[in-house]
Amino acid sequence: MKIKPFLVEEWMNAYETQATYNIAETCADSISLEELFTLCEEDLEAFWKSISSKRLTYGDIHGYPSFREGASSLYRTLSPEQIIPTHGAAGANHLAISALVNPNDHIISVMPTYQQLYSIPESIGAEVDILKLTKEDGYQPDLKKLESLLRKDTRAIILNNPNNPTGALMSKETLLRIVALAEKSDAFVFVDEVYRHLVHDDTYSESIVDLYDKGVSTSSMSKVFSLAGIRLGWIAVKDEELKAKILSHRDYNTISCGMIDERIGAVALKDPQKLLKRNRDLVKENLSILTEWVEKEPLITFVRPQAGTTALLHYDLPIPSREFCLRLLDETGAFLTPGDCFGEEHSLRIGYASDTEVLRKGLEAMSGFIKKLQNEQGNPGR
Ligand SMILES: Cc1ncc(COP(=O)(O)O)c(C=O)c1O
Repeated sequence: MKIKPFLVEEWMNAYETQATYNIAETCADSISLEELFTLCEEDLEAFWKSISSKRLTYGDIHGYPSFREGASSLYRTLSPEQIIPTHGAAGANHLAISALVNPNDHIISVMPTYQQLYSIPESIGAEVDILKLTKEDGYQPDLKKLESLLRKDTRAIILNNPNNPTGALMSKETLLRIVALAEKSDAFVFVDEVYRHLVHDDTYSESIVDLYDKGVSTSSMSKVFSLAGIRLGWIAVKDEELKAKILSHRDYNTISCGMIDERIGAVALKDPQKLLKRNRDLVKENLSILTEWVEKEPLITFVRPQAGTTALLHYDLPIPSREFCLRLLDETGAFLTPGDCFGEEHSLRIGYASDTEVLRKGLEAMSGFIKKLQNEQGNPGR
């Protein structure tokens, strides 16, 4: 199976470890087990004791019940049986798309977004139409254009909400309008919801599975729960036929998830609000720092993100985004992701949910670098 290089992951793999100020990271500042157990008021020693005596088998093949229960509590209408644990959201997306999409199917996806969502269907041999999300539209989907792309045989509309990299959030009304369009073609609506629950005005973010029986949601412990190290995600699905297909594919590529990982996930999701509150407070503080910085930088603009942990910063300088980021890293130690990984040249993706001091220092380094570029080029703008 041929698949295009995964640009954003290749970028992170190549350079992330060289960063002094990593403001490319998309996870809300990761936490240790000690911090997690303190925050959740659980006994870490007792936890290790109970784990230590357990034989390390494949565990519960379809998932540890308390973890599935915790994940299902993040939805309004789901039961634990409708949660399929996976190896991160990356595993969830790969597994669910492989089960959902057939060669020659018609798929609609969006750009910019996480590349799995259009490159995996393409690699399966589907015909993928891209709905471009634009800065002018605040990165909200143009529903007229979406309607014009829809066909009688469209198999699925594949989206990401909140969106990585833009931080745009589709409202319940927008999602319902997309559902109404999908219903006409009896198409699935698949939404990667890995940044759900971090909404900056504290409103509830709807999941597609609560709005549509042919909705599929993927998510994980990595981003809004700060636990990427346990590599645990899930697919939330109501449609019984699709669920059976996913489980069949899962026997081939997953079998089960790690039993220790699932138990840690269960602790974090016993009361998900504890971690969510920590991370909402963090992103709010950091977003206000970022917004102030953007307002002070004449060559930088952005569409202020509504949710999640990332935003696209557009810059008005005659330098390609990759060169910008490579030089920035080399000359200052600050690390960002070039917009060309998302088909958005002359922009940079920032992950602003890092430790607050790292964000401050990273932005400071960027200010100095932008001035340096301006002096070099003797040119105030592109
Ligand atoms: C939109 C989106 N989906 C999925 C993933 C994969 O996350 P994980 O496998 O760590 O859960 C990422 C990671 O950056 C992402 O941004």
